[in-house]
Amino acid sequence: MKKTDKTYVVAACSEEDTIKIGKILASVFENRVIAVCGDLGAGKTHLAKGIAQGMGITRHITSPTFNILNIYKEDNKVFYHMDAYRLTDEENAYDVGIEDILEPEGITLIEWAENIIDVLPQGYVRIYIEKCEDENKRLLFITADKESIDRMAIRIYEDTSR
Ligand SMILES: Nc1ncnc2c1ncn2[C@@H]1O[C@H](COP(=O)(O)OP(=O)(O)O)[C@@H](O)[C@H]1O
Ligand SMILES: [Mg+2]
Repeated sequence: MKKTDKTYVVAACSEEDTIKIGKILASVFENRVIAVCGDLGAGKTHLAKGIAQGMGITRHITSPTFNILNIYKEDNKVFYHMDAYRLTDEENAYDVGIEDILEPEGITLIEWAENIIDVLPQGYVRIYIEKCEDENKRLLFITADKESIDRMAIRIYEDTSR
């Protein structure tokens, strides 16, 4: 994380809300790697669904728990969706071809990214999803360069569908 990075916190009050936030993120974080952390059931895969929808991906997004990496290529865009839960070190990450997805022509989203934090490129976007007492509420802590965060904040604020 750089000194100039900024963190924005947004509340999602339902799974639909998390998907809507994901759609906005897709418009701000083109060609970036997004590292998503948070407990099981936090909503990492739902956020991934929203991001894919925002990119215009029409295929159904499923959790990459078992295959580790799912690739959705549509038109000239690609959404790489990785689950690093079972990757325990760098070597493991290289075994599954991590270097091929770190400069995406589209977006790369990595769940359980804390397991492979050392292999992520400079300038990756970090999102931590925290569960709240209210069963359907989540807090998303989104960290990236200040310029992107400011652009994102305006789009989230202006999105009246939420
Ligand atoms: N605000 C919310 N955002 C995302 N998921 C939510 C929310 N509220 C409840 N849920 C539920 O939490 C679960 C999240 O699952 P999932 O996205 O697979 O999490 P993860 O990938 O972090 O394990 C789903 O059952 C979903 O319906
Ligand atoms: Mg998941």
